[in-house]
Amino acid sequence: MAKRTTIPQIMRLKGQRPIVSLTAYTAPLAGLLDEHVDFLLVGDSMGMVLYGLPSTLGVTLEMMIAHGAAVVRGSQKACVIVDMPFGSYQASPVQAFENAARVMSETGCAGVKLEGGQEMAETITFLVERGVPVLAHVGLLPQHSNRVGGFLTQRDEEKILADAHAITDAGAFATVIECTEPAISRRITDEIAIPTIGIGAGVDCDGQILVTEDMIGQGTGYVPSFVKRYAEVHEDITKAAHNYAEDVRNRRFPKG
Ligand code: KIV
Repeated sequence: MAKRTTIPQIMRLKGQRPIVSLTAYTAPLAGLLDEHVDFLLVGDSMGMVLYGLPSTLGVTLEMMIAHGAAVVRGSQKACVIVDMPFGSYQASPVQAFENAARVMSETGCAGVKLEGGQEMAETITFLVERGVPVLAHVGLLPQHSNRVGGFLTQRDEEKILADAHAITDAGAFATVIECTEPAISRRITDEIAIPTIGIGAGVDCDGQILVTEDMIGQGTGYVPSFVKRYAEVHEDITKAAHNYAEDVRNRRFPKG
């Protein structure tokens, strides 16, 4: 069996070569992506992408655990990180540890991701000191979309920089930087010692992540302008469903 990429191996890639990551929510897709990425993120974006929710806020710990376990089962090589959903970690470090421990023990993932900067530093240290590797997430925080009024590009350079330094000092092994000006993520990448994983944050991060359904053209909703489409799965499925329906209606399927 292939050996999984470890978190220390991912950390050592900073300054060596770009880190590749994609989201996965299901075992079959995880199996297809596994060979090509350094880590798979079971993101809470699944609420919007898979479940048709209007935001990520309705995603539950049980959903994350079920999909996290499926992605671990479906992959062999990639490091798997699972998102902590809204309400499962913000109340206190103890709440965060109890829920992160469930995520790790029930899925077999290597670590968790949580959103936030300076306000989450104490929690990140609490988790890391107790054996829970943390991928931080700064810049645009989808779980804060109600507070800030939507999914908006973040331009407050000094705040984002202070957040990135705080989560680094707290012990995060890497951080996602979502939707910031490229100059800001470049400065963060230069200044902090841990890898930066950009999404809509320019080319100079230490790595990149995309929501796979956006990248393969399977998304049903809004697709951000920074996304590059590498396939048009939506069109293939639509065509297949149309052709199947035509065959059934005209008794061309099944044969005989
Ligand atoms: O939930 C998610 O998929 C994410 C990535 C887009 C970084 O947080």
